[in-house]
Amino acid sequence: MYPDLNGKTVIITGAATGIGKACAIRFGQESANVVINYHSDKQVKETEKIIEEIKHSGGNAVAVQGDVTKEEDIKNLIRSAVETFGSLDIMINNAGIENEVPSHELTLEDWNKVISTNLTGQFLGCREALDYFLENDIQGSIVNMSSVHEIIPWPHFVHYAASKGGIKLMTQTLALEYAPKKIRINSIAPGAINTPINAEKFSDPKLKEGVLKLIPMGYIGEPEEIAATAVWLASTQASYVTGLTLIADGGMTLYPGFQAGKG
Ligand code: NAI
Repeated sequence: MYPDLNGKTVIITGAATGIGKACAIRFGQESANVVINYHSDKQVKETEKIIEEIKHSGGNAVAVQGDVTKEEDIKNLIRSAVETFGSLDIMINNAGIENEVPSHELTLEDWNKVISTNLTGQFLGCREALDYFLENDIQGSIVNMSSVHEIIPWPHFVHYAASKGGIKLMTQTLALEYAPKKIRINSIAPGAINTPINAEKFSDPKLKEGVLKLIPMGYIGEPEEIAATAVWLASTQASYVTGLTLIADGGMTLYPGFQAGKG
């Protein structure tokens, strides 16, 4: 547990499902005030359940609809956090999408959609949180959800890999720029995690087996294992950590082909 998160206010984008949802619940368990951003009206019921769970575990929560690609929606997220809970201390830029297309067939529309959600959306979240922190003299913390694909090339997902590679240097650049203000900016690079983004892939036993072969620890990660890294990075336990990509991937980036001297 991280006692310093008690009473802190955190915004989590794309928090109705998967990793974002697990982060919301975990911050709630740490008695934080959680702003759950969700994208579509279809997610309202799920967010109500998350709020109930958070309140039950001692935290406080509110759900705010918003599209991370829209400046006004991000500004509204910050406004809602401050109006509801009085401040903002932590921003978790988590929302992201992917789709599989051979690169020579990728439309400009698809490219723009992934880049604007995964990269521009995270930039807007960083910019607005930084602006608020600076204006209010808050030594806040930002965590961006990257991916092992900020390192590992991924055929048929060039827009996704480019967005995550972009998050890496965006995180490092912002970390350097705002370190003198004691604002910390880090990211997390999950490997293969059991969430809706992978539901189709993992429901096919052959595809799942193929993914498992790439994970030295031998299992698909759970969203709670990523949430555990997010609370640590956001807490004062990580007070001297900035510009880091924390890799949580069961060893996926360790060149698994070299395991047991097979390389
Ligand atoms: P997910 O599909 O459950 O979560 C993504 C969330 O983002 C959804 O709730 C969706 O509604 C929301 N979203 C999409 N577009 C949005 C928009 N324009 N505005 C606001 N919200 C929007 O999938 P998951 O796995 O939880 O993904 C969360 C993050 O983790 C993403 O950035 C993803 O790239 C990253 N990640 C996931 C991995 C995995 O294996 N599940 C591995 C590496 C990274």
